[in-house]
Amino acid sequence: MNSKLLLILVFILSFSSTSFAGAKKWITIGKDASSMSLQKFNSSMKELKSNSDISIIEIDEDDVNSLSHEMHEQFNRCGGFIFHDSLEAAEKELNNIGNKSFATKSIFADYAINQNDIVRPLVAAVTANNIKNTIEKLSTFNNRYYKSQTGVASQKFVKETWEGLVSGRSDAKVEYFQHRAWAQPSVILTITGSKSPKEVIVIGGHADSIAGYFGGSRARAPGADDNASGISTITEVIRVLVAGNYQPDKTIKFMGYAAEEVGLRGSKEIAQSFNASNANVIGVMQLDMTNFNGSDLDIVMMTDFTNANQNAFIGNIIDEYVSGVSWGYDKCGYACSDHASWTNAGFPASMPFEAKKRDMNRNIHTSRDTISQSRNTASHAAKFARMAVAFAVELDK
Ligand code: BES
Ligand code: ZN
Repeated sequence: MNSKLLLILVFILSFSSTSFAGAKKWITIGKDASSMSLQKFNSSMKELKSNSDISIIEIDEDDVNSLSHEMHEQFNRCGGFIFHDSLEAAEKELNNIGNKSFATKSIFADYAINQNDIVRPLVAAVTANNIKNTIEKLSTFNNRYYKSQTGVASQKFVKETWEGLVSGRSDAKVEYFQHRAWAQPSVILTITGSKSPKEVIVIGGHADSIAGYFGGSRARAPGADDNASGISTITEVIRVLVAGNYQPDKTIKFMGYAAEEVGLRGSKEIAQSFNASNANVIGVMQLDMTNFNGSDLDIVMMTDFTNANQNAFIGNIIDEYVSGVSWGYDKCGYACSDHASWTNAGFPASMPFEAKKRDMNRNIHTSRDTISQSRNTASHAAKFARMAVAFAVELDK
């Protein structure tokens, strides 16, 4: 009798806690994606406003995971969205896109390619096996979810790894960028420029991972491709620049963003803070998924939410320095990664990607996103590391 009562009580309690609604928040999302997801989640999501391209949807904060999962699993596509803390912020984004006013604050970049002597030996030093080792280490964290303890621990690992690489350099430091609303910090490595330190080059990628629908703090999310590959590529870029004793004129920052998978939240705070302090970010490269060789093209430059001039510059860099590598263009979809945060903050950003969208790695956001999907090598990611090394040096002039 008593145990039956207890059972009923447990049942009621667990039921009420799962059905208890989280805080109301807002996202902006591509219009086609929004109509698909509204059909699926009509109980919890409400479209408030839209223009011809995007919609503002009111959403229960807890449903953000399932939204991202459903887009990939059900519709086999990305459904990028940007998370907003207030309806006002969402409305600003809607108007911004509506006017297509991506006016960049600062383009002082020189897109000529003329640093051959410096770039070539650095590019030659990129080693795929280093990238592979870092991907494997990052994948051993149960997940790198933005709210989980392992998501905090994995960022400590990134910070310490990067600190280890620059320990002999007085011009370099590694810091956390803390976020008020969740536990996982972003990590930023700064090599301060010796001649024009106010001009900043950013190479970043998201460090969090997610396992979608049943995700959250406990689910297994190795995120080997999405996006241990990007963080490990960046780690090799840092190693190569330091090993070659490269001392930049401008400031170079390497970033591992928190909380990308839940609406670009980490990078949004960082890019907005750079905007607020009138920073002069002359170029941003986003590395998100670099190790799944799914297409005839090796490197695919995403055209949306990116800067066309800088994209063409990176294409020229590949032709010049990354031999045997083909590249082209594709569209990613509304706000599919952190480059959108930088574009929205007014800075020129690019997103070179591992494949054409339709050939993307289908195992991302699941427990199957392991390096075995890439035949246990990081040879594809190494192409991105070579490109990124050349990008940093060629912008640094
Ligand atoms: N790495 C993906 C972006 C991606 C996936 C680009 C496949 C191109 C092809 C990123 O981490 C991601 O999952 N983005 C979400 C949106 C995000 C705001 C939750 C997406 O695109 O669905
Ligand atoms: Zn993802």
